[in-house]
Amino acid sequence: MSKKAIFLTGMAILTLLLFGFLSNQATKPEIIPLSKKWEKTIPFQEIPKGISGLDAAHCGICHPKHYEEWKISTHAHAWRDKQFQAEIKKETSPFMCINCHIPLQNQQAEIVIGLEEGDIYRPVRKKNPKFDRELQQEGITCAVCHIRNNAIISTSKSGKAPHQTLVRPNLLSEELCIHCHNAVATITPQLVCSFETGTEWKRGPYSGKKNCINCHFKKTVRENATGFGVKTSHLHSLPGSGIPKELGYQPDMLNGLSIQPEGIKDRYKKGDSLNVRLKVTNEFAGHKVPTGDPERFFLFHFLIRNEKDDTIAIKTERIGEKWQWYPVAKKLEDNNLSPEEERIFTFSPLLDKRGRYTLSILVTKHRMTAEAANFNHLDENYPKFIPIFEENFEFEVQN
Ligand code: HEC
Ligand code: HEC
Ligand code: HEC
Ligand code: HEC
Ligand code: HEC
Repeated sequence: MSKKAIFLTGMAILTLLLFGFLSNQATKPEIIPLSKKWEKTIPFQEIPKGISGLDAAHCGICHPKHYEEWKISTHAHAWRDKQFQAEIKKETSPFMCINCHIPLQNQQAEIVIGLEEGDIYRPVRKKNPKFDRELQQEGITCAVCHIRNNAIISTSKSGKAPHQTLVRPNLLSEELCIHCHNAVATITPQLVCSFETGTEWKRGPYSGKKNCINCHFKKTVRENATGFGVKTSHLHSLPGSGIPKELGYQPDMLNGLSIQPEGIKDRYKKGDSLNVRLKVTNEFAGHKVPTGDPERFFLFHFLIRNEKDDTIAIKTERIGEKWQWYPVAKKLEDNNLSPEEERIFTFSPLLDKRGRYTLSILVTKHRMTAEAANFNHLDENYPKFIPIFEENFEFEVQN
């Protein structure tokens, strides 16, 4: 190649580089900092002074009862849950899904520093050099609620702990729970977050009297740390719906409903109607029943069988929300029971044949429908519901 040719080629390359640089400048997307509350994690936490680990088992060395209880809590399963794992693998699930399920920066493999053009589907990530894979498995672990500013936070302090403790009652109040348990957002036309346990509680009769912690972290008296004497303490098993996440583990359960069958007689005349009423009251929950995840529902089954075990009458009632997900997510129905609300279901089949019969009333509490479970490829062993009430009544129909 001649000198001139080399010069020209050089110029061409330079021009190309310059053009590339300029056009890159022009199209380089703007990175918008994270602004909304669920876009942000709880900042990275160091191990508090005086102890040598952040994980639940480490806290459990000195707080064995809190640790054993927490292990069966749904919070401990918030990351490993099969349904959650199935959902976060979908392209439609944005990055911030994990911020309520593994909210500490320590638990996340990447650090999200902003969003390209503010688009939640284009997060700008960098590797988290301090990522703690084991802590990630623990989901909503002790540190999520109890560590801020690199110290243990508590509602009070005995002065006997080896770790630094900061007294921050406002950070361990119902606001902590509501931060995660109240979310209304439309992410895409088909993807919405819709759970309002916090709002239901604030608007209801328990606000100012009993909060989330009073009902879900019941007071007890026992040793808070081994060898440090018996005192006021809070149970950490987090009873809730009681529907397990895996076979072979039974979470603690609370029951919100009082269920009372009324009007059942042992004898009827041929031609009578059964006229059974089932009085269902949300007597014990501080929010609606069911609350939270819109997929939850209750079924109330009524069934009459004759002496040969043939079903002669059947009826099912439902309490829960109904949604359409396509083409746009839309709530179609919501008959969830508000606190203290009462509902009466009736079952009145005509009794037109003599004989002895059994009436069965069965109530089941559901995490999701079988179709939703199939949609997420959850195997048959994924528990979808539990029975919470069953009673059988014998009666006779005479001439
Ligand atoms: C080496 C033992 C030890 C470890 C490890 C430990 N604690 Fe403690 N902690 C204690 C003792 C002792 C007390 C005081 C108990 C008492 O006075 O009844 C305490 C008290 C507390 C309190 C009440 C506030 C206070 O200071 O009295 C909280 C909350 C707490 N610990 C949380 C944790 C958490 C969360 C972890 C894990 C990140 C943890 N602790 C790890 C020993 C320990
Ligand atoms: C979802 C949040 C949450 C998680 C997770 C959690 N705690 Fe707590 N913990 C609380 C609240 C709330 C209180 C205090 C309530 C109060 O005093 O009103 C508390 C109180 C405590 C206390 C003080 C004694 C008592 O029972 O009142 C200790 C000790 C403690 N927790 C240890 C732990 C340990 C150990 C873990 C993990 C194995 C853990 N906590 C997980 C919310 C949490
Ligand atoms: C960091 C977010 C976060 C915080 C803080 C939090 N939760 Fe949760 N909670 C969750 C998630 C996520 C689940 C669901 C886990 C799953 O189903 O795998 C859950 C589950 C529950 C359940 C069980 C639901 C069931 O199926 O039975 C109860 C009860 C509950 N939380 C109460 C509370 C209370 C009370 C507080 C406050 C002390 C609290 N939570 C604080 C995120 C949080
Ligand atoms: C007056 C007591 C009470 C208060 C206050 C209360 N809960 Fe509950 N909660 C219950 C009972 C009872 C259930 C069980 C309902 C059922 O399934 O029958 C429950 C169930 C739940 C569930 C499981 C979902 C379900 O439908 O079963 C979650 C999550 C929950 N509560 C969170 C909270 C949060 C967050 C707060 C505070 C904003 C709170 N609760 C306040 C009593 C209470
Ligand atoms: C604002 C906090 C928050 C965010 C963000 C969040 N979740 Fe959750 N998630 C929760 C809470 C709280 C529960 C428990 C609700 C209940 O039990 O009432 C939950 C429960 C779940 C469950 C279990 C449902 C069940 O019936 O057991 C799945 C699966 C889930 N979330 C998936 C996701 C996905 C996917 C995203 C992102 C699109 C996401 N979550 C974002 C707070 C959050």
